[in-house]
Amino acid sequence: MEDFEFVSPTHFVFGRDAELKAGRMLAERGARKVLLHYGGRSAVESGLVDRVKSSLADAGVECVELGGVRPNPEITLVREGVALSKEHGIDWVLAVGGGSVIDSAKAIAVGAHYEGDVWDFFETKQQTDDVLPIAVVLTIPAAGSEASKNTVVSNDELGLKSGYPNNAQRPKIAFMNPELTFTLPPYQTAAGLTDMFCHLLERFFDDVGSVPVTDNLNLSLMKTVRAEAPRVLVDPENYDARANVMWAGMLCHQGLAGVGRHEDWATHGLEHELSALDPDITHGAGLAVMFPAWMEYVYSENPARFAYYGREVFGLAPTGDVEDDALSAIDETRGFFASLGMPTTLAELGIEEADIERMIPTLKANKGEPFGSFMKLSMDDAREIYRLAL
Ligand code: NZQ
Ligand code: ZN
Repeated sequence: MEDFEFVSPTHFVFGRDAELKAGRMLAERGARKVLLHYGGRSAVESGLVDRVKSSLADAGVECVELGGVRPNPEITLVREGVALSKEHGIDWVLAVGGGSVIDSAKAIAVGAHYEGDVWDFFETKQQTDDVLPIAVVLTIPAAGSEASKNTVVSNDELGLKSGYPNNAQRPKIAFMNPELTFTLPPYQTAAGLTDMFCHLLERFFDDVGSVPVTDNLNLSLMKTVRAEAPRVLVDPENYDARANVMWAGMLCHQGLAGVGRHEDWATHGLEHELSALDPDITHGAGLAVMFPAWMEYVYSENPARFAYYGREVFGLAPTGDVEDDALSAIDETRGFFASLGMPTTLAELGIEEADIERMIPTLKANKGEPFGSFMKLSMDDAREIYRLAL
């Protein structure tokens, strides 16, 4: 087991009506003026934003609103949020939404006390503890940002989508009401399931040997996501299935499923270039295409690890040929994503061979070369993986 540090400061409030506790709990923690941050439509139309506003007002907490976060959030709105925070003396940021809203909120919280441009943090990865406290009302289980240490933001002007890790921006409170996810369109539910499953794959396939305490937790989450996926897709208002998926989404990415391992994250790097190129590409859908392609390209580094995954997660019986077992596990993975309604080729996402060269320079800027850990990848390897996905 590799050395590690693990920080998890999030207070989880899970269950029906969880969001109604927002006002009281923020007030108890000293919040006086909150930036209420939300997305394009869903949280306003469902009345959620109004319910949260009432909860804040009842607790005597003032709020300044900033809506309009798009999927694959953009730095321009973050800068607006930073300016609003400075102008109004904001002391907490409350995100109502999914990964995009939460990531935008994290970036605002990081920039709120900073004199320079908040994008500096994405470029330099410089660490700071001077971050506004963040609370979250989660509306889609997927990115795991409700407890993760990362934010991922696009800069359309530079054609970049970049991550910034910092434990200080892990949310302090996450309100998680599974009923809020009943309204998710099937495609977003499926993309979320794919994303959380891929957060486990990124941690399972690296260059560290077996770490049973971590690996068994990871595999049990993979099995859970796989089992609950059809239940939420067939019956979107199944509270128990939605609850299991919501909690799994958090567990898949807050960090425990990877401690003691190096983790890989090459495929997330490959995907982020797709959604940087076209913000209409949903992160989970991009992963559904890229992960099986990455697996095919790298599995021969350690076929036994793939065979083990196939046995544990998909119940594949060993054939006596570890190579065949590994390939069957990859087929099962692709089949699982397809069964959710996710795409299997880049063509379905509107990406063509000519786009590959447009992504390579930004991939190199974001990930460096070589990148990944299961197999160290060059930019030529990345080109090949994109080609396999066409
Ligand atoms: O904007 P609205 O109208 O709210 O619509 C959203 C959006 O179109 C909709 N939605 C959310 N909750 C809903 C709902 N529609 C109906 N009912 C609800 N309850 O869903 C769409 C997608 O929302 P988004 O927040 O973009 O989804 P997700 O949570 O998948 O976040 C994706 C972003 O997170 C980043 C991704 O790269 C992407 O930018 N990631 C962040 C990570 C992190 N911070 O740790 C890790 C991940 O690997 C990922 O990279
Ligand atoms: Zn992800």
